Amino acid sequence: MKSVSSLRETTPPPPVHVAIIMDGNGRWAQGRGRSRIEGHRRGMETVREVVKGSIELGVEYLTLYGFSIENWKRPAAEISSLMGLLRLYLRQEIKALDQRGVRMRFIGQRPLLADDIVSLIEEAEEQTKGNTALNLVVALSYGARQEITAAVQSVARRVASGELDDSTIDETVISQHLETAGMPDPDLVIRTSGEQRISNFLLWQVAYAELVFIDTLWPDFSQEDLRDAINEYHRRDRRYGATG
Ligand code: FPP
Repeated sequence: MKSVSSLRETTPPPPVHVAIIMDGNGRWAQGRGRSRIEGHRRGMETVREVVKGSIELGVEYLTLYGFSIENWKRPAAEISSLMGLLRLYLRQEIKALDQRGVRMRFIGQRPLLADDIVSLIEEAEEQTKGNTALNLVVALSYGARQEITAAVQSVARRVASGELDDSTIDETVISQHLETAGMPDPDLVIRTSGEQRISNFLLWQVAYAELVFIDTLWPDFSQEDLRDAINEYHRRDRRYGATG
């Protein structure tokens, strides 16, 4: 197998940061007469495959929308099953992820998560912080508007305390106050299941990302679908508002 660094030198190089809205677990299950949680369980298998595929393709950052702030409105039983799956994933996978060189990070409102999940997240971040093969960012209890609001509050506090001059507030200052501070913006956003929305995901950061919407439901999403989406990304002409 090629080393990660040699993959990153391939032409064309892979997108540095791929972000995925994993959608369609419920419909996958309903279509088979199974419970929604079975769909989420299969969705977790897909996460494993996509992490492996991302490392093989030389992607540096993979951000997965695991649980949105709006998902707290789902029935208590589904939330509790999703949180159970997350516990399972964190307990079972950390060792293997660490061995594969994956650095794990989490964005989103931690105070809304159960204490034991916060501890698992903190342990995962600490244990994997030296890894460089792939940065796996999981958005949990995450909402972009809430993230931007918190950033504005934090900037305002610094201005009020005299630590920051308001004339120096620019895009870099705002980015540095987001939870993704220090990470590159996504180059490619993939949403599965045929829906074509951003759903409060990384609103600031996706300003220039290529958006690829595919009909496949998340539990059926494969490493080949990931490669197809990346090929589609390569066919796009990224101009950032300039002429060709
Ligand atoms: C969207 O499907 C999916 C979710 C709300 C949760 C995603 C969770 C997983 C893939 C499980 C494990 C996650 C991690 C990070 C280990 P949906 O329920 O909205 O599907 P529907 O639109 O068909 O109802």
